[in-house]
Amino acid sequence: MKTIWFLPLVFLYFGLFSFGYCKNVSARPAVVNVGALFTLDSTIGRVAKIAIEEAVKDVNSNSSILHGTKLNITMQSSNCSGFIGMVEALRFMETDIVAIIGPQCSTVAHIVSYVSNELQVPLLSFGVTDPTLSSLQYPFFVRTTQSDSFQMTAVAEMVSYYGWKAVSVIFVDNEYGRNGVSALNDKLAERRCRISYKSGIPPESGVNTGYVMDLLVKVALMESRVIVLHVSPSLGFQVFSVAKYLGMMGNGYVWIATDWLAYMLDSASLPSDTLESMQGVLVLRQHIPESDRKKNFLSRWKNLTGGSLGMNSYGLYAYDSVWLLAHAIESFFNQGGKISFSNDSRLKTMEGGNLHLGAMSIFDDGMLLLGNILQSNLVGLTGPLKFNSDRSLIHAAYDIINVIGTGFRMIGYWSNYSGLSKEPPETLYAQPFNRSSTIQHLHSVIWPGETLSKPRGWVFPNNGKLLKIGVPNRASYREFVSKVRGSDMFQGFCIDVFTAAVNLLPYAVPYQFVAFGDGHKNPSYTQLVDSITTGVSTTL
Ligand SMILES: *[C@@H]1O[C@H](CO)[C@@H](O)[C@H](O)[C@H]1NC(C)=O
Ligand SMILES: *[C@@H]1O[C@H](CO)[C@@H](O)[C@H](O)[C@H]1NC(C)=O
Ligand SMILES: *[C@@H]1O[C@H](CO)[C@@H](O)[C@H](O)[C@H]1NC(C)=O
Ligand SMILES: *[C@@H]1O[C@H](CO)[C@@H](O)[C@H](O)[C@H]1NC(C)=O
Ligand SMILES: *[C@@H]1O[C@H](CO)[C@@H](O)[C@H](O)[C@H]1NC(C)=O
Ligand SMILES: *[C@@H]1O[C@H](CO)[C@@H](O)[C@H](O)[C@H]1NC(C)=O
Ligand SMILES: *[C@@H]1O[C@H](CO)[C@@H](O)[C@H](O)[C@H]1NC(C)=O
Ligand SMILES: *[C@@H]1O[C@H](CO)[C@@H](O)[C@H](O)[C@H]1NC(C)=O
Repeated sequence: MKTIWFLPLVFLYFGLFSFGYCKNVSARPAVVNVGALFTLDSTIGRVAKIAIEEAVKDVNSNSSILHGTKLNITMQSSNCSGFIGMVEALRFMETDIVAIIGPQCSTVAHIVSYVSNELQVPLLSFGVTDPTLSSLQYPFFVRTTQSDSFQMTAVAEMVSYYGWKAVSVIFVDNEYGRNGVSALNDKLAERRCRISYKSGIPPESGVNTGYVMDLLVKVALMESRVIVLHVSPSLGFQVFSVAKYLGMMGNGYVWIATDWLAYMLDSASLPSDTLESMQGVLVLRQHIPESDRKKNFLSRWKNLTGGSLGMNSYGLYAYDSVWLLAHAIESFFNQGGKISFSNDSRLKTMEGGNLHLGAMSIFDDGMLLLGNILQSNLVGLTGPLKFNSDRSLIHAAYDIINVIGTGFRMIGYWSNYSGLSKEPPETLYAQPFNRSSTIQHLHSVIWPGETLSKPRGWVFPNNGKLLKIGVPNRASYREFVSKVRGSDMFQGFCIDVFTAAVNLLPYAVPYQFVAFGDGHKNPSYTQLVDSITTGVSTTL
């Protein structure tokens, strides 16, 4: 008797369960509108466009995610202009989108972030590396790539590893450039190194060669021979070409280029004279771990593009951003999130003119979607997609490459966990945390001028203030110190010890010997010390 009673109960239970599930699923809309904002007319943009389209195709054809709801993605090109970016973002907001994949440029990101904050539409930026966008001011900005805060830590650790103390920086004078350099400054200071000279280049395309030449001549007059180049690709190639002409790509110089050069090496086929002008340069590249998933996608990519456009890290992050968003939308629906919009009362009062501000609306559950994005926990082409409490992707890491011949060599890696290493960081995550400098290693570098010996990193500057060294012009014990007759030079044991000591310093100390005394009778040391302390220099 008892078993007869049990069965209907079980059916009833399952009936309720599947009814609830169906209702939840059928409450989902047929399409979800998503915007994509980037610069189609750029290397990153060309790669990202195809990657995003492929990702949307993959998501929409996969029945185990979004259960019938399709992503409807609309792309706009912002051309890295803050103004156009803002206008495009405002136009998007009239079309009831729930998120924007992008933007690609820091300048656009700063402006669009205000719009997305106000209208509660998350930005998933696969291209913006400006560290200041991680700030609390921009809660709806989510970076789905690596922040330059990590890249600059990698640069600072390299500078410190090679024993250099000061660097010159050439940067593009916009948000991307300035904020990157500011991060570098902090990271160098933590390692008792510094930026001794910095020079900005205007961001407009088509800076004339004379301008770049003047700038590089000033850099060459400085003591540091370590130059960090944090610019856009077109400016970077121009700098290398002029530097080559000025003899600044030769022996003694060190050039460290940030990852603008890496994605150009990956995606563009560079002319041989461009490659020729940057031999020996060190380059950072966002590290994407090897995996079957990545390998398969790269072969699919080759098929897709016929090998004409190489994949780069930003393209992989763009692809992953779409999947990350799809998973977040899936969770959003599972939590009962609804795609609804309401008018912004603040904008209503500004109605007028032809701007149609009233058409822009607030995504009511934007906060819920943002929360789901930040809670992501999946594996993509770029590895684990998961955010730290500071909203950066876990496992920030870079490849360090050395431009040689018509290609480049890998000389090592940097990761936030393991620092500099010859082994890929994934192999080190399992090992205990140890940042001891004794275990930091890189493979040898072929430096500019095709030399294997590490450049000293500094020279005596041509423009520096000289340190005046008072030297007694003695008449006796001349083997210790004496003036070479008929010249301004000095010789002797004390001079040798002094110059040897100065040469051991890891930075330049420009100095000048100044004779004290007439050379016929020994000068008074008391008088010499007095004239230094009082600053009265008759002979000095
Ligand atoms: C479909 O999506 C699920 C969930 O993300 C994933 O595990 C699976 O690999 C996808 N299938 C295909 C063919 O991409
Ligand atoms: C997709 O988005 C575009 C632009 O917002 C819109 O015109 C179009 O109607 C949308 N498609 C669907 C199926 O909703
Ligand atoms: C984008 O900028 C380039 C040059 O910087 C210009 O030639 C092109 O017309 C611009 N495109 C748009 C849509 O503004
Ligand atoms: C490459 O493309 C061809 C046809 O265009 C197709 O038959 C083949 O399966 C593709 N291979 C891969 C790995 O996608
Ligand atoms: C959808 O199901 C979840 C539990 O899975 C529930 O919390 C939520 O209220 C349901 N939403 C709707 C619209 O029924
Ligand atoms: C929002 O404003 C637009 C135009 O200003 C209007 O057509 C629409 O009905 C308003 N929607 C709501 C929900 O108030
Ligand atoms: C980087 O390292 C610092 C210190 O070890 C840690 O606090 C932070 O969470 C790490 N960040 C990432 C992205 O791994
Ligand atoms: C880190 O590695 C060095 C060199 O192998 C070793 O001497 C040191 O004890 C290690 N430190 C920790 C905290 O494991």
